[in-house]
Amino acid sequence: MDSLLIKGGVPLQGEVLISGAKNAVLPIMAATLLTAEPCVIRRVPALSDVEFMAEILSSLGARVTIGGDAVTVRAARLKPVGNYELIRKMRGSICILGPLLGRLHHATVSLPGGCVIGTRPIGLHLKGLRALGGEVTTEGGYVHVKAKRLIGSDTFLGGRAGPTVLGTANVMMAAVLAEGVTTIESAACEPEVVDLAFFLNKMGAKIVGAGSPIITVTGVKALGGAEHEVIPDRIEAATFALAAAVTNGEITLKGARPDHMSAVLDKLREAGVRVDRTGLTMTVRRGGALRPVDVTTQPYAGFPTDVQAQMMVLMTLTPGLSIITERIFESRFMHVPELARLGADISIEGPSAIVKGGQRLSGAPVMASDLRASAALVLAGLAASGTTRVNRIYHLDRGYETIDKKLRRLGARIQRVADS
Ligand code: EPZ
Repeated sequence: MDSLLIKGGVPLQGEVLISGAKNAVLPIMAATLLTAEPCVIRRVPALSDVEFMAEILSSLGARVTIGGDAVTVRAARLKPVGNYELIRKMRGSICILGPLLGRLHHATVSLPGGCVIGTRPIGLHLKGLRALGGEVTTEGGYVHVKAKRLIGSDTFLGGRAGPTVLGTANVMMAAVLAEGVTTIESAACEPEVVDLAFFLNKMGAKIVGAGSPIITVTGVKALGGAEHEVIPDRIEAATFALAAAVTNGEITLKGARPDHMSAVLDKLREAGVRVDRTGLTMTVRRGGALRPVDVTTQPYAGFPTDVQAQMMVLMTLTPGLSIITERIFESRFMHVPELARLGADISIEGPSAIVKGGQRLSGAPVMASDLRASAALVLAGLAASGTTRVNRIYHLDRGYETIDKKLRRLGARIQRVADS
């Protein structure tokens, strides 16, 4: 297992090219199961989650080739049962359920494994698939969904924390080949859902309203192949914007979509960070003294839960009190005790973290627990004096393409080391 050694205190400078979005690529790779024709997906980041999804599609019978930043999938013949262990390991793979049901009227996948950030049930996914005529049974750690016919219908997908992103994706992908019209109410509005709908429409689907809480799908008989370049990763872009702010540097983000990041950019500006936009390029630097801000995570277009941990690092450096409230996942503060090792002063009150900012961070060995927590620990290590060792960075490699190389090009003193 690898770790990262970071010597902090260097203001990062330069340009970084933002990769394709992990959370768009995964459901789009799953969507290729809906046709026997070849599909080509471009701007695919080199991530372990992408490799996992490729293995899962291959275990279902699809031919998958990865070449540079392009993935080609041909799902000529398919079987309805995916590799148990692979699917259990990567939660995001639950989004093969909808396309398998849509194409084969039968799907069997292992129930997603536990996750440190929350219970993450899939009840809303199953509710939507039942509404289309799916019969759902769970047995032996598997969920089985089968349907004699898939018939379009209305379904409301709002839950405890609002809409579900992959639930919306699953129901949309099952509905594209159903008979008649499906209306998804309280649908997730994330840009990744819009990108998926865009890809499905290129395959010949009839989807309108993606990006709004009401999505309407008119079923078609069959779908063809398509080529598609995925959207840039707004969470990676937000992470690099915060890298500029926490190191008091200046970073130009290339190939990002500022229009997908309004809530994050708004909070950065409120905190005293300057963001200058020209087209798809943004330059981020501190614009003077930092100010404490309160943040509450919400479904899109609110402040993304996937940037909560990284934003907390900026607040630990900012003199004053700030309150960060996590409304999407029940236990997404695993980074707090690790930031405390670096000298941060944060206390947890229910869904909120109270950050007493302005502490000087100093390097220490810390443990990554999940993808975004590990990104936050890297940011804290870049801001801290001395050396920070971030262990278990396999979490990081799941969602950030060669982040250590990208940071080194910006002047960071960071190196990947194998655990002794
Ligand atoms: C997607 O997960 C993302 N993953 C997550 O990113 C992201 O944090 C999340 O959306 C929220 O934005 C991918 O796209 C692969 P949800 P998803 O269903 O779809 C509850 C990252 O760091 N819920 O929108 O699994 C659920 O427990 C990852 O890249 C139900 O109650 O999330 C949560 O509290 C982490 N019942 C809330 O809804 C359900 O059936 C939102 O979850 C489904 C979800």
